[in-house]
Amino acid sequence: MNNVVISGTGLYTPPESVSNEELVTAFNAYVERFNRDHAGEIDAGRCEALAPSNADFIYKASGIKSRYVVDKAGILDPDVMHPRIRTRGNDEPSLQCEMALAAIEPCLAQAGRSADEIDAVLVACSNLPRPYPALAVEVQQYLGGGRFGFDLNVACASAAFAIQTGADMIRSGSARRVLMVNPEICSAHLNFRDRDSHFIFGDVCTAALLENADDVADGEGFEVVGTRLQTRFSNNIRNNFGFLNRSETEPRTDADRLFVQNGRRVFKEVAPMVAQMIVDHVGEHDLSADDIKRLWLHQANINMNSLICRRVLGREASQAEMPSVLAEYANTSSASPVIVFHKFSDDMVAGDVGVLCGFGAGYSAGSVIVRRR
Ligand code: COA
Repeated sequence: MNNVVISGTGLYTPPESVSNEELVTAFNAYVERFNRDHAGEIDAGRCEALAPSNADFIYKASGIKSRYVVDKAGILDPDVMHPRIRTRGNDEPSLQCEMALAAIEPCLAQAGRSADEIDAVLVACSNLPRPYPALAVEVQQYLGGGRFGFDLNVACASAAFAIQTGADMIRSGSARRVLMVNPEICSAHLNFRDRDSHFIFGDVCTAALLENADDVADGEGFEVVGTRLQTRFSNNIRNNFGFLNRSETEPRTDADRLFVQNGRRVFKEVAPMVAQMIVDHVGEHDLSADDIKRLWLHQANINMNSLICRRVLGREASQAEMPSVLAEYANTSSASPVIVFHKFSDDMVAGDVGVLCGFGAGYSAGSVIVRRR
């Protein structure tokens, strides 16, 4: 079995950011208009009045202050309330492909590699632009590298699942270099008219290069010590968008074809599942809580991450041990643990151990233990 090293990471952040205050102003304008337009039905008890959102609630409940998005104007227009994305022709790169290329460039530069040295391209994310051709094959084409590529979708845990998939290829010898990329346009699956969830997500893209350790100079990158995956069925995070929508005998509403969650139940059920997974995984490698220098966790909720760290470490985690970008980026699905790994791993010294962990719908969760070389 070959050893695997993460030799580079890259991040692409869209230029536009939306603050909680801006989002709440747009949402409340929609609510006011809805209640005014439906005043008669509301008074007659045939329709429920909508309640306004609140920026303080959002920050206190989640730790989110803002999010980057691919189209701010569409999201904040109460007549639109979703990103507006130009329809692309088949002979030009899709938006997710462009985002992927923008994250791959700094990733390859950090690893000192060029596109023609890549064996496989894995696109791992929550939402793909179409069933086929695979986005990974499109990225391969515009990148000008890679023997093959394919897409993986395991919701917010997609990056962890792709790291294990790529690492397994390298361990077994079927590939030497695997590029993993997470182009997340979460704003396009978010229901901006739903008070419970309109603040949750942002858009971003991350990339990571996995290599056979024999090809990476001593002292460079992070050795992949181990990977572990877990799934357990739940409807508490669900999106009924799919190719059968057109054929279904009962047409679904727009809201049913977007992200829906029972956040409170997710919090209560996923936090212990993830904490136990990390504890078991670390133990499997004869490591203990004291050996963990850093936890690069999925960024969904700051209180949830504090709870997971408390259970894993047996005490409160410091900010350095549990870095977060929630305030700035919100939840960016599969990309989020890779953002924190990308931004908060430079200070680790040879021998330092950390755990990258993604979790979300499915439920699905994956942990990757790494050691600084
Ligand atoms: N503005 C103001 N009030 C709001 C609100 C908003 N935008 N959204 C909900 N509320 C209200 C609710 O109506 C409720 O009011 P009530 O107590 O009068 O019934 C109250 O605030 C609490 O709502 P609740 O949904 O229970 O809040 P919460 O503390 O659970 O926080 C989340 C909501 C979504 C931030 C939180 O549950 C969460 O992050 N869960 C984990 C989700 C997760 O990890 N998902 C993975 C996705 S990849």
